[in-house]
Amino acid sequence: MNTRSTMGGSLLFLATVQHPWLFVLAATPNSFTEGDIVERGRDLFLSWIDASEIPGSYSTDVERAQARDHPADLTHSMLLHFGKGGLDQEFFDRGEPDWHRTTPNPVFSTDAARSSMLEAIAWLLRRGMSRLQDAVLDILKAAAAHEIDHVLTLSRAGLNSFEDFWRQVNWTVRYGPRQLEPDLPEHQDYGPETNFWLKFRPTLACHHMPRLGAELGGFKSWCNPHYWLSHGPKFVLSLGSGGDFQYENFVTEQWPDVTVVTADCTSIPEPGLRNFSEGRGKLITLPLCLRGVNDEYISFFSKEGREQFVTYPAFMRMLAENHSIDHFDVIKSNIEASEYPLFAHIMQNPEENLKRTSQIHLELHRMGMEENGLNFHSLLFAQLLLATFMSGGYHPVSFERWMDELSATDVVLVNQTWWLLSELDARRGIWTRRYPEPRLTEAIFPDPLRLRKRHSEGHLSLMHLEL
Ligand SMILES: *[C@@H]1O[C@H](CO)[C@@H](O)[C@H](O)[C@H]1NC(C)=O
Ligand SMILES: *[C@@H]1O[C@H](CO)[C@@H](O)[C@H](O)[C@H]1NC(C)=O
Ligand SMILES: *[C@@H]1O[C@H](CO)[C@@H](O)[C@H](O)[C@H]1NC(C)=O
Ligand SMILES: *[C@@H]1O[C@H](CO)[C@@H](O)[C@H](O)[C@H]1NC(C)=O
Repeated sequence: MNTRSTMGGSLLFLATVQHPWLFVLAATPNSFTEGDIVERGRDLFLSWIDASEIPGSYSTDVERAQARDHPADLTHSMLLHFGKGGLDQEFFDRGEPDWHRTTPNPVFSTDAARSSMLEAIAWLLRRGMSRLQDAVLDILKAAAAHEIDHVLTLSRAGLNSFEDFWRQVNWTVRYGPRQLEPDLPEHQDYGPETNFWLKFRPTLACHHMPRLGAELGGFKSWCNPHYWLSHGPKFVLSLGSGGDFQYENFVTEQWPDVTVVTADCTSIPEPGLRNFSEGRGKLITLPLCLRGVNDEYISFFSKEGREQFVTYPAFMRMLAENHSIDHFDVIKSNIEASEYPLFAHIMQNPEENLKRTSQIHLELHRMGMEENGLNFHSLLFAQLLLATFMSGGYHPVSFERWMDELSATDVVLVNQTWWLLSELDARRGIWTRRYPEPRLTEAIFPDPLRLRKRHSEGHLSLMHLEL
């Protein structure tokens, strides 16, 4: 059951002492008193939560801490298939641990397994909704009376995001694998790849969602960057580099006060520190890879290889000790399907692990990639992954398919609390914010002719290599 209190009234009183005209505004439409409006807003929001079609109910932070996983979530449903087409003899003979290209674990073959998967999704979404409820009630308490409608409108968009995602998954699971079978007459012009990827779409929108950097593949969209415009993000984590530093080059050029930490055990041989030139952020490179709790995902690496893998909390402890980094404002992840076990672990305790993390730039890989990825199990695993993000309060606000690859998509996920605050800020600052918005897109290679010339002369390093 939801708990209700009358705290809002006195805080609103303080707000109206500072802005006496609020008395007038608050009293107008239905002649509520100012206390009533906060109270009624709160009741309205809670009535939406009660009316949700997603199975489950509110859980407190204490209850969420007591049960951090579900028997059918990604902590327990493993992508790896130790069998033919999966991690079989042929796989080990190849030597390269390209496990994300192997056939997914066929765990969702029975109706019972699919029902459990839906239960896990509902459980995950309800956790995210509970977190949203906590955030909304806090914001309502501190909001001025004239802002209550706006807070409610935003809160409803947040709830719709959970609800819309739930309906999509429920439909997808119940329809079953037929949607991905090739050459069926009902596919008409669309086809199974379309049926697969249409499930990956934003469920929430940002006030401003510019794509920053060159208008070429690999750059990212950013949700409401005005919200940290003056200073930018302070700490940015880039997981997985593979020798491509485009993201790092962009971020350090864009925000001079930033420190970017890049971790990759496959391409970075030793720890490094670059201060770059004046006016650019710092870069710390580490020969580490991130892992979840399940040992099987790293079981096929050599002993030395396995030692390079650390969990997210261990990684953060190390960064706090060695570099005084206590949070990341933004995380970029391109780690070849290791995002499944990693974020399953991180999202068990997002308050601790993702303290102050506002956005996540995720390269979402489908298990099996092109070769083995057009598969109902891969689809459901990826849906579980999105629900895992939503359980921690991170909603997908943008997708960018890598059209030349059939197996991955860039997703931008935004922290719902940060999103609420940034949307409120967009409204509060509207009388004074400069227009056009400061020219963020011009930070790196703003001149397409110059960039094209350099590219045509073979200077690829400018954009991709560590400078
Ligand atoms: C899931 O979809 C089915 C119809 O396919 C519907 O009967 C059921 O109520 C839905 N479940 C929930 C919890 O919304
Ligand atoms: C980078 O700058 C810091 C001071 O901000 C300094 O302590 C450090 O030695 C510099 N490192 C390199 C590699 O230049
Ligand atoms: C942290 O510092 C210790 C001691 O200097 C070192 O052994 C370790 O490798 C460092 N770790 C990182 C991630 O920089
Ligand atoms: C989300 O954003 C809020 C507001 O900036 C912040 O307090 C919180 O630590 C962030 N992380 C999570 C997991 O909520």
